Amino acid sequence: MSREGFRLKNNEGSPVIQQKAPVITKEEIAAGVFLVGVKSPQITMHAQPGQFLHVRVGQGPEPLLRRPLSIFQVDRKRGVLSLLFRVAGKGTNLLSRRRLGEDLDLVGPLGQGFDVPSGTRTALIVAGGLGVAPLFFLAQDLVRRGISIHFLMGARCQDQLLCRDQLQALSSHLQVSTDDGSDGFPGLVTQLLEEFLRRENLDSGSTLICSAGPEAMLAKVASLACQFGIPGQISMERNMACGLGACLGCVVLCRSRERVQTYRRVCVDGPVFRLEEVVFGE
Ligand SMILES: Cc1cc2nc3c(=O)[nH]c(=O)nc-3n(C[C@H](O)[C@H](O)[C@H](O)COP(=O)(O)OP(=O)(O)OC[C@H]3O[C@@H](n4cnc5c(N)ncnc54)[C@H](O)[C@@H]3O)c2cc1C
Ligand code: FES
Repeated sequence: MSREGFRLKNNEGSPVIQQKAPVITKEEIAAGVFLVGVKSPQITMHAQPGQFLHVRVGQGPEPLLRRPLSIFQVDRKRGVLSLLFRVAGKGTNLLSRRRLGEDLDLVGPLGQGFDVPSGTRTALIVAGGLGVAPLFFLAQDLVRRGISIHFLMGARCQDQLLCRDQLQALSSHLQVSTDDGSDGFPGLVTQLLEEFLRRENLDSGSTLICSAGPEAMLAKVASLACQFGIPGQISMERNMACGLGACLGCVVLCRSRERVQTYRRVCVDGPVFRLEEVVFGE
């Protein structure tokens, strides 16, 4: 019997696959933060940076709703993808207790990922906390395409600066900040970003800002990008139910290029949006 459930198409035209995929690696890389590898050659083959999976976290009917998690990394040769998540509540706690060899029921890849324009030569990647989850795969992909990366990563404290060594190896320049001053720049990653933008005089035609993290941070990234005239894309989060565009439970307020305000669904129109598109705090 096939282990694959259903196949749909997402907005990018690639298949959406439901599949039971075995957990093959699991590591707690920081307190309450887990890196889990699953074997899923089909999803791995189609996944793009910024897309996510909808994961059934338990083994029984409870909890009913799947949880959205970004695709952190893919290894297409081995057909393996990984998820990086923090235990935030019941669902992620259950997921953290799944054992090696057990199957995870996955739906994906879902949503619109990062769309890097041709002509981009430099990416300025700004991650806040678990925001590193959708950005690591992006960084790997950009390096493969010959785009140089400046990576700014912020966390509450040193222990929560995730995957720092791997990002250091990928990036032309990596700078970190911590809210408590235990490592790197003492303060917010958006303060680091502002300093960087003032210092570097980046070319707006060939630079792209990509960011993920808490919404207040994304609002500040959007305002700085606008001030310095650099285009960018951000990954948004909302609680989700269907994950397929049907329930309208995950909307964010956006404005069109004609400046008309409208609600858009994070699960199918996002999670990655142009940063001037999202209307913050209104
Ligand atoms: C597209 C997308 C990609 C995501 N990728 C990742 C990822 O790679 N790694 C990761 O750790 N988390 C990620 N998240 C967030 C993750 O889905 C939630 O942390 C998770 O669903 C919480 O489930 P829970 O049952 O453990 O917690 P719950 O009991 O449902 O919630 C616990 C707390 O977390 C808050 N919360 C729940 N969902 C969200 C959300 N979507 N955004 C902000 N706060 C939330 C709740 O309000 C509550 O305060 C992503 C979310 C989206 C929408
Ligand atoms: S979660 Fe149902 S429309 Fe997005």
